[in-house]
Amino acid sequence: MTNRPERTGRHIPEETLEHALGEHPSPGPPAPQDTIVVLDFGSQYSRLIARRIREIKVYCELLPHNAPWEQIASLNPRGIILSGGPASVYDPAAPRCVPEVFTSGIPLLGICYGMQLLTLESGGQVAPATSREYGPAELHILDAGGIFRDVPPVTRVWMSHGDRVERLPEGFQVLGRTDNSPFAAAGNDHGHIGLLFHPEVAHTEAGRQILENFARDVCGCSLTWTPGAFIEESVAAIRARVGKGRVLCALSGGVDSAVAAALIARAVGDQLTCVFVDNGLLRRQEAESLIAVFEQHVPAKLVHVDASSRFLCSLEGVTDPEEKRRLIGHEFIRVFEEEARRLGDVGFLAQGTLYPDVIESTSHDTTAAAKIKTHHNVGGLPPDLRFALVEPLRYLFKDEVRRVGVELGLPESLVWRQPFPGPGLAVRIIGAVDSERLAVLREADAIVREEIEAAGLGRDLWQYFAVLTPLQSVGVMGDYRTYGYVVAVRAVTSDDAMTADWARLPNDVLARMSQRLVNEIPAVNRVVYDITSKPPSTIEWE
Ligand code: XMP
Repeated sequence: MTNRPERTGRHIPEETLEHALGEHPSPGPPAPQDTIVVLDFGSQYSRLIARRIREIKVYCELLPHNAPWEQIASLNPRGIILSGGPASVYDPAAPRCVPEVFTSGIPLLGICYGMQLLTLESGGQVAPATSREYGPAELHILDAGGIFRDVPPVTRVWMSHGDRVERLPEGFQVLGRTDNSPFAAAGNDHGHIGLLFHPEVAHTEAGRQILENFARDVCGCSLTWTPGAFIEESVAAIRARVGKGRVLCALSGGVDSAVAAALIARAVGDQLTCVFVDNGLLRRQEAESLIAVFEQHVPAKLVHVDASSRFLCSLEGVTDPEEKRRLIGHEFIRVFEEEARRLGDVGFLAQGTLYPDVIESTSHDTTAAAKIKTHHNVGGLPPDLRFALVEPLRYLFKDEVRRVGVELGLPESLVWRQPFPGPGLAVRIIGAVDSERLAVLREADAIVREEIEAAGLGRDLWQYFAVLTPLQSVGVMGDYRTYGYVVAVRAVTSDDAMTADWARLPNDVLARMSQRLVNEIPAVNRVVYDITSKPPSTIEWE
C-alpha cells in the first residue's frame, strides 16, 4: 500500500498556510468546499471580514446585502455573516437582505449593524445608544462556550456603533456585555448570533478566535481552504529561489503547467519565458486553443516549438510504456535545453508537477510509495539536467490547483479542463505510436469528449477519453466484412487521481458514443467500455 493521503486539502505544508489573502478576495470555483457568505451592508470592514474568514482557511465570498436568495443559496453556504454598515436600522432607506437569510436555518453572525438587523428581524428592539460607543471596550463574557470558546472572560473588543440593542428577541440569550451595551453579544439555539463589536479588526483581541469558533463550531466548516494564502507564499518562495535568474516554463497544454506559469509570472514577471512544445501527441485543436488562452491571460513571453516530427521519430517502434515515457521526457528536456540556449542564460525550469505525480514516481522526498509509473515530469529527467527545477504546485492536489488557477484569474475553460498526461496520446495508444494511429485516436478522443460534454457530464468526471488498443476484430458493415481497431472508452470519477472509480455513464450516452466512433472513424469497428477502478487498474492504460 502506498502512504496515501485521505483527502485533499491536507497536503499544503502548514508553513505555506499562515498568510492572509490579498485585499481583494475573488470568487472561486462553485464552492465544493465549506463556504461562508458575507453580506455587505456597507461597512469599511466588510472585505476584512472575508479576508479573516479565508485566513482561518474557510472559503468565503462577499456579496452585496441585497443579493437574491438564489445567488446566496447557489454558494451552498454553511454560514452567513451580516456585516456592519453606516446606516441605522430605522432609516427608511436602511439596507436589508432577503428574508430567507433569517428563515433558512443557516447559522448567522450579525456584526454591529448586522446584529441590529438580526435583532429587528427576529422581533427584538434597537434604539439609538445614549452614548455612542467608538473604540475599545471591555467585553465581559457571560457564556464561555460556543462562539466564546477559548476566549478570556474579559477581553478587549472594538466598538463602532450609534444604535444598540434594547430588547433581545424571543429565544435569544445575552452572551456578553460592555459598560455601555448590556447586550453586546447575544445568540439563540439556532446558531443566530449577534456581536455589537467588530471581531474582524485587529483591535479586538480575540477576534480571530471568535470568527474561527463561528466558522468551525457553529457552522461546522472544516478549515481547509487557502489558495490565496498559498499564492502569497508561493510568490515569495519563487522570488527567493529564482532571484534575478531567468525561468523557462514548460507548458504541456494542461491545467497544471498553465497554473504554474501564471503563478511564476506573478512572482517574477518577464524573467519567465514559457515554452510550449507541440510534441505531436496532443488532442485535436489543443495547441491552438492553449496558445490563444495563454496569450490572453498570462503576462509572460510564449515560445511555440513544433517538435512533433522529432518526438514521432524517437518513438518509432517503441511499445514499452515506461520506455515511451522516458523517451518523451528526455526529448522534452532536450528541446527546452535548445530553447534555453537560444534565449541566453536560463537557470531554472518550471514544471506543473503535482503531489500525486511526486508520490507515484517515488521521487527523493517520498520513500514510502512504490513506483507505479514514471510520470515524465518527475521521474524521466535525464541525469545531466542543466536546469534547477521550480515546481510550485508540488504539494497540491488537482482541486487545489484549480482553485489557485481561478484565484490567479485564469479562465474557467482552462482551469476546469480534464487532466491530460504529459506523454499525451502516446500512453493512450497501446503499442507503437505512429501518425496513422494518432489520427485515429484524435478522432475517437474528440467524439468521446463531445458526447460527454453534450450530456453535461464533464464536471462530474475526473477524466474521459478514448484508448486505441492494438486489437483488431472482425465486424460487418453494410454487407462487407471489416477488420478494424477496438477502441476503449475510459471515464472515471476521482478526487485526486490517487484512487478512481469507473463512471456509471448513462447507457444512451455510451450508445451514441459507440455509434459515432464506428460510423465516423473507418478504421474502428468495435467499442468497449472500461469498467475497472483504480486500484487495481490505473486511470491511463499505460
Ligand atoms: P494513472 O494512470 O497513474 O494517472 O492512474 C493518474 C493521473 O496522472 C496522469 N498521468 C500522467 N501525467 N505524466 C503526467 O504528467 C505522465 O506520465 C502521466 N501518466 C498519467 C493521468 O492522466 C491521471 O490524471
